[in-house]
Amino acid sequence: MKEKIQNLIEEVQLVSISTAVELEQFRIHYQGRKGILAGLFGEFKRVPPAQKKETGKILNDLKMVVQARIDAFIQEPGATEETPFTDLDLTRPVTYMEPGTRHPLSIVRNQIIGIFSRIGYTVAEDREIEDDWHNFSALNFPEEHPARDMQDTFFIEKNPDIALRTHTSSVQIRTMEKNKPPIRSIFPGRVFRNEVISARAHCIFHQVEGLSVDKDVSFRDLKQTLLYFAKEMFGDDTRIRLRPSYFPFTEPSGEMDVSCNICGGKGCNICKYTGWVEILGCGMVHPAVLENCNIDSEIYTGFAFGMGIERITMLKYQIKDLRLFFENDLRFLNQFRGVF
Ligand code: DAH
Repeated sequence: MKEKIQNLIEEVQLVSISTAVELEQFRIHYQGRKGILAGLFGEFKRVPPAQKKETGKILNDLKMVVQARIDAFIQEPGATEETPFTDLDLTRPVTYMEPGTRHPLSIVRNQIIGIFSRIGYTVAEDREIEDDWHNFSALNFPEEHPARDMQDTFFIEKNPDIALRTHTSSVQIRTMEKNKPPIRSIFPGRVFRNEVISARAHCIFHQVEGLSVDKDVSFRDLKQTLLYFAKEMFGDDTRIRLRPSYFPFTEPSGEMDVSCNICGGKGCNICKYTGWVEILGCGMVHPAVLENCNIDSEIYTGFAFGMGIERITMLKYQIKDLRLFFENDLRFLNQFRGVF
């Protein structure tokens, strides 16, 4: 009997099993109720006591070798405990994974990029940790300007000053240092200010900066570009108005309002009953800024603008609380399902 079992151990190792059907045949042949192992264990009862120990040992070896072949098959890729099959069943229903949604700020950022790329603007991004030169000095901020104060800006190091950029205007400088006019680009990105978090303000938010520098660029070009943008973003009936303002890096400077797209200009609580909503700052690039970037301000002029993506998204989708953008609450995010 010992010799018979020894032969079977060799045989079991040589059997080829490559499909689930072959595995099942193997299992029944060896482990089945009337299979080889059952037969041998029956015979084992009649083995004389003196041989029991040795025969029992190799019989157990055979049992283990059979089980090892079955286990090896289960561990093959694509097989699971319940379905030890290598030939994958492609008709089985899959575990459904819900597709995610784009974040509303990404949706609107992409829309802004789309609108400006249709009139030839390229897109650039740059660093969020900036030095004083690119965030303030090259943009003509005087030494004592309040934005340079710790209360407004997150400084990482002092002397030399390194801070989280407070606006995307820093990318204007980086772009003009690297490129010669004509320049027509927008710069989307994240910015940081030491603000108290509320429904209308956050210490992290997003802007898109625009810059156009060339010979003979005038305020008319600025106004026409912004009107085009407002109509594309909020609809064809949208009107714009420019109010004089002040920024150190533009002269003259303005702030642009769009007619309220919620009440159509009649007056509501979103536009505080004025019919207008402010969406961006803009102006003609200050000659000192061009010169700081080695662009001859006698030959070239330019315009620039900067808008907050949160503000535009809130207006467009009638969102009342800016904090919703940062909470990752699925009840909010799921409302943008299918919007691209
Ligand atoms: N950097 C300004 C801010 O964060 C926005 C701005 C205003 C950008 C006027 C410009 C501009 O490019 O010309 O408030």
